[in-house]
Amino acid sequence: MNGIKIKGTGRCVPEKTVTNDDLARIVDTSDQWITTRTGIRRRHHCTTETHANLCAGAAKAALARAGVAPEQVGACIVATVSADTAVPSAACLLQRELGLPEDIPCFDLNAACTGFLYALHTMECLLNASPRKFGLVVGAEVLSRLINWEDRGTCILFGDGAGAAVVECREGWPSIGAVLGSRGDDELLRLPGLEAGERSFIQMDGTKVFKFAVETVPRCMDQVLQKAGMTAEDVDFFVFHQANARIIDLAVRKYRIPTEKYYKNIQEYGNTSAASIPLVLSELEEQGKVGPGSRVLAVGFGGGLTWGGALIEFV
Ligand code: ACO
Repeated sequence: MNGIKIKGTGRCVPEKTVTNDDLARIVDTSDQWITTRTGIRRRHHCTTETHANLCAGAAKAALARAGVAPEQVGACIVATVSADTAVPSAACLLQRELGLPEDIPCFDLNAACTGFLYALHTMECLLNASPRKFGLVVGAEVLSRLINWEDRGTCILFGDGAGAAVVECREGWPSIGAVLGSRGDDELLRLPGLEAGERSFIQMDGTKVFKFAVETVPRCMDQVLQKAGMTAEDVDFFVFHQANARIIDLAVRKYRIPTEKYYKNIQEYGNTSAASIPLVLSELEEQGKVGPGSRVLAVGFGGGLTWGGALIEFV
């Protein structure tokens, strides 16, 4: 199978920020507790912006950076659990907004926080079967509308945003070598669907999810490196799903990853689920920390349960 590489990234976040002190006025918590236990200082929440607006903003920025026109796109996937509507999908609305070709697949993908990595792997498969060699992968969430504002264990964690990547598939390029997994579990993490009617809130056993993440992240990294026949030294940059700074710190310590080779933006955005990894990629590309030739190891985990890792190169 021919591999994909990232040609350009983009992001879009709502204007309004909600600080830890703002939340301390709603629930029994404090800036000190949230900062030390999670690393989060603020998060962005939608006011007038919609999920569709965030997707369009991130996708347009990624296409512009990649220098790719909408008519060159061969498939569009939006990884999300919080689209404006179940039907039409966020990806179909994006097809209309961007003027993507009508003869390509556009669909949403739900793998919670691992969604962007699931989508990248799916895109690699799709582009191998497509005459068009560019793909648009978006991770977007408006989790602020799925928050139970009486639950201090979850309401402090989540934020809204979107990140996007335009990828290219070429003969001879190595596959991203994605390692993906799932284990059905509705106790650790749950977002009710139709059963809940209009009021659907994220429910989580934070401590158990934390333990799951701490075990899963290094195992996933090992599997990705083993599959590629590489070591951590062959990786230019490590990108972790931004769920809790302590989870990232544990992985970094285990692999002795130097400070200049990983990145955290959880302090600014909180946990944005499927948007988290592409938000990091977009900031890294903008800051020149990754660019043509860079090899990134990205790891995610989340509801489902799901997990995944991949070696993503930039072109
Ligand atoms: N402010 C103050 N105290 C709090 C808060 C809060 N916001 N939340 C919980 N506490 C209290 C608890 O009530 C408990 O008090 P007690 O000891 O009197 O009972 C104490 O703090 C410790 O609670 P824990 O839940 O054990 O705290 P923990 O250190 O585990 O941190 C947290 C909680 C931040 C949620 C952590 O477990 C975590 O980050 N889990 C992982 C979350 C995650 O990665 N989710 C990813 C998937 S999300 C998705 O896919 C959509």
